[in-house]
Order: sequence, then structure tokens, then C-alpha cells
Amino acid sequence: MDKTKILDAACEHFRALVSEQLDRAEKMKNREVVDFAALDRVVIGFCGGDGIGPIITRESMRVLETLLADKIAAGKVELRPIEGLTIENRLAVGKAIPDDTLAEIKKCHVILKGPTETPHGTGMESANVAMRRELDLYANVRPVSVPEEGIDWTFFRENTEGEYVLGSRGFDVPGTLAFDFKVTTDEGTRRIARAAFEHAKKTGKTSVAIVTKANIMKKTDAKFSAICHEVAADYPGITAEDWYIDIMTANLINEQRRASFQVFVLPNLYGDIITDEAAQIGGGVGTAGSANIGDRYAMFEAIHGSAPRMIERGCGEYANPTSIMRACVLMLNHIGFTAEASRLSAALDKCSTGEGRVVMTGRPDGATAAQFADAVMKVM
Ligand code: IPM
Ligand code: MG
Repeated sequence: MDKTKILDAACEHFRALVSEQLDRAEKMKNREVVDFAALDRVVIGFCGGDGIGPIITRESMRVLETLLADKIAAGKVELRPIEGLTIENRLAVGKAIPDDTLAEIKKCHVILKGPTETPHGTGMESANVAMRRELDLYANVRPVSVPEEGIDWTFFRENTEGEYVLGSRGFDVPGTLAFDFKVTTDEGTRRIARAAFEHAKKTGKTSVAIVTKANIMKKTDAKFSAICHEVAADYPGITAEDWYIDIMTANLINEQRRASFQVFVLPNLYGDIITDEAAQIGGGVGTAGSANIGDRYAMFEAIHGSAPRMIERGCGEYANPTSIMRACVLMLNHIGFTAEASRLSAALDKCSTGEGRVVMTGRPDGATAAQFADAVMKVM
């Protein structure tokens, strides 16, 4: 092992990363926010994705065509299918998002995206992570509610930096060691904190939990917490409380205390992990929607993956579209169609619980995604 050579390579690698991250931090200072209320026409793009993605996305589009029929007829909304975000195509062009697909995506205002498969062993980045970065979708907003238990949580997961931003750009010395990098910027933290506190204020919530591991990650997480507290100072009446991620994961399964939490703000990786836990508490990862919000674009998706095994078994048509339809509710709210959002949300509640429940098993003994969508449209 030539240590000097390794050190030189490491310095060069790190230098390039720091330079690029400084540029990203600088760019973040110039924010331009789209006001959806002021748009004459909203374009909603649909990316099917892989596995069960095209099936559940197709059914969501059918529901939205009915729900938004008047607005579509009046030219206020366009539903636009976007081709090309498939694993085959991505592997063929060697890009997480093919250039022409990305160009089409950027012509829309908001995107509904089916789950995409992340190829293993090719080094290719996940399409999700790439889209969040390309469209600067910095807020991953994941609500979970269990009304009968008094649980009404909203997670604000930072979505563009932290452990993810350089996740495919680590440094390793094969056979000896490996490094990954975590990056937290002031502005990146400020904007996610602002989103969380604004949401708390708008919805009449009184507390925001700042969840980090600042006792260990002394640079990045300590910065994250400090900046969240700076932002909190602008919100009198809302308490900002620090928690460590380990005890917070325990708190969420503590039935005596979990209903006391309201809004959470967290760095990327902790947010990824804890929102799966929360979704499971809220009825399973098949039932939760996820919003990826930026200043200019927003993307809405199911919280689950592409379920390739369902396709292999020939059961794709039996996939449960609840999660992506919950994402549609989040999307409708985001673009200001709150009445339609409430109608869809109430219809989904009716079809998921109680007497009107459509039984989805993921197999031929249950309903198909199309039957579920039909039932939703009937009660919507
Ligand atoms: C999510 C997913 C993604 C993530 C994967 C698919 C890259 O787990 O949206 O939570 O880690 O963010
Ligand atoms: Mg996840």
C-alpha cells in the first residue's frame, strides 16, 4: 500500500466534493417560489416507474380524471403521462433519470411518480434520490394519522442533503477502509425548518420535535439542531424540543407518549428510517403517501417500493393503490385544490375501513387495483 498515493487521491477527491458542495450552498440562497394559486393552468405529470408502479399510477390517473373533470375541461389542469422512467431505459442510457425524461418532467408543475427500482451492483443512483436533487425537492413531508389513538404526526424530512447528497460519492481503499460523507448546509437546514414550523403554525400545532444524533454527529447534526432553534425563535407559541433519533424511535412505539408528538423535523437518513416506522404504526407502508416539495416543483409518491415479486408472481394487477392515492391527496392540497383533496381523502377512508372496505390481499383472492379505484370513484 502506497500511503502517500492514497492520501493524495483522498485529498483530491475531498477537495472536489467540498468545492461542489460550496457551489450548491451558494445556489440555494437564490430562491424562487412558485405560487400555485396564481397559475392559470397546472400541469400534473405521471411517471409510472417500475414493477407495480405503472398499474397503481394508471389507476390514480383514472381517479383524478374523474375528480378533476371540470377543471380539465376548463383547461385549468392537464394530466400528462411521461414515458421513460423505467429500469430498462435507465440502464440502457446509464442514467438515474434519462435526459429526455427529465426535460419532460421539468415542463410540469407537479409529478405523481410510481415506485422505481434501484439497480444493485451497477453503482447507478436511485431515480428517487436523483429526482429529489434535480428538482431540488428539499422537504419530504410524510403525514401519519391514527385518529382512534389521537396520533396526528407530520414528518418533515430534509430530502436533498445529509447522508444522501454524496451517498454515491464515497471514498474507499479496497480491502482496508471506506468513507461516506454527510453534508449539512445552513440554508438547507433553514428551509426545511421553516417548512416544518410554518406547517405547525398553519395547522395550529404547538410543538416541533427536532430529531438528530447531535451527541455523536457533532458538526452536521449539531448545526441542524442549532439552525432549527434559530428558526423556532420566529414562532412564539410553538415549542421546539430536541430529541435523539434512538429514543424517538422508541417513543413512537410507546403508547403512553406517542400521541403527544405533532410535527417532526429531521435530517435525511433519520427521516427515511423513522417514517417507515411511523407508516407501519399508521397501518403499513402500503397505506401512506409521501410528498417531496421544493420551491418550484413537487413530486408525490407512494412510500413503498416497486414490489417486483408481485410482478413475478403475476399478481401486479392486485397491487393496493392506497398509498399512491394518499399521495394524490397531498398533491391536490399542495396545488390548492383542497375541496377535491378532502373528497378523495374521505373516499379512501371509506374504502379502507369499515363497511365499505375493499379487501386487498395482493393476490387473486382480493380486489384488483382497478376495482379499488372503481370503488373510490363511486363514493367520491
Ligand atoms: C424513501 C425510499 C428512498 C429513500 C429510496 C427508494 C431511495 O426509501 O422514499 O423513503 O431512501 O429515500
Ligand atoms: Mg424510505
